[in-house]
Amino acid sequence: MNRMNFIVASAIAASLLATTGVALSSDDDGKKSLLSWFERSTPGIDPVETRLYSKECGSCHFPYQPGLLPAATWETLMNNLDDHFGENAELAEGDLNSIRNFLLNNAAGRANYGLPNKIMAAQGDRPLPLRITEMRYFVYEHSDLKRNMVEDNPQVKSFSNCDNCHQGAKQGLYDEHDVNIPGFGRWDD
Ligand code: HEC
Ligand code: HEC
Repeated sequence: MNRMNFIVASAIAASLLATTGVALSSDDDGKKSLLSWFERSTPGIDPVETRLYSKECGSCHFPYQPGLLPAATWETLMNNLDDHFGENAELAEGDLNSIRNFLLNNAAGRANYGLPNKIMAAQGDRPLPLRITEMRYFVYEHSDLKRNMVEDNPQVKSFSNCDNCHQGAKQGLYDEHDVNIPGFGRWDD
């Protein structure tokens, strides 16, 4: 696009961001990066931002993929890092902005793709919890698991530890056929 159109488009995007807290993902790139979190490859994800995200948001727990929560939830989480589930997870301002943009651009509801779409559809108009593990889709998908497999399982401890059971979680693979619950073995239903 020519320079003038670019400026106009950028201004519209910026004002949308300001009024709705919603960033516009740039169609093809946005789709490719969302897709890559949930399918096999990783093109389209900015390696620097991803490395930054894994470093800053993966030091205390698994670095949850942006497509697992809607933008509004990420926004709330990023605005309250000083009181983050009882911990202080504050970031330097530059890192905060990079990570916020990365999360918002790739959040569920941003692009028309499988798992993030299902998460949004299942939630419907219900209030948004701060946790992935309290989203309706998550609760429904994990309703067959017993306490002794999760909370009372010393090798798992909490549903928040996705990668303790989903062996491909780091690659964004959450298929129910790729689950191995420590102490219980492969999930077979
Ligand atoms: C200082 C440690 C620490 C850092 C750094 C940290 N977190 Fe957390 N986070 C926690 C704790 C503790 C919990 C609650 C875990 C639990 O209940 O098992 C949590 C939970 C979460 C959850 C909810 C998980 C669920 O149960 O569904 C999300 C989402 C999350 N963090 C995102 C982030 C993001 C994004 C960042 C980076 C900006 C970040 N965290 C950095 C400590 C941290
Ligand atoms: C205690 C082990 C365990 C933990 C921890 C866990 N899951 Fe799961 N998850 C499962 C099992 C088992 C299934 C399949 C359930 C079924 O088929 O009834 C599943 C199913 C899913 C599905 C649906 C997959 C499909 O093929 O339909 C998604 C998505 C998912 N989990 C995401 C997550 C995320 C994200 C986290 C972390 C926030 C997480 N899970 C934590 C065991 C776990």
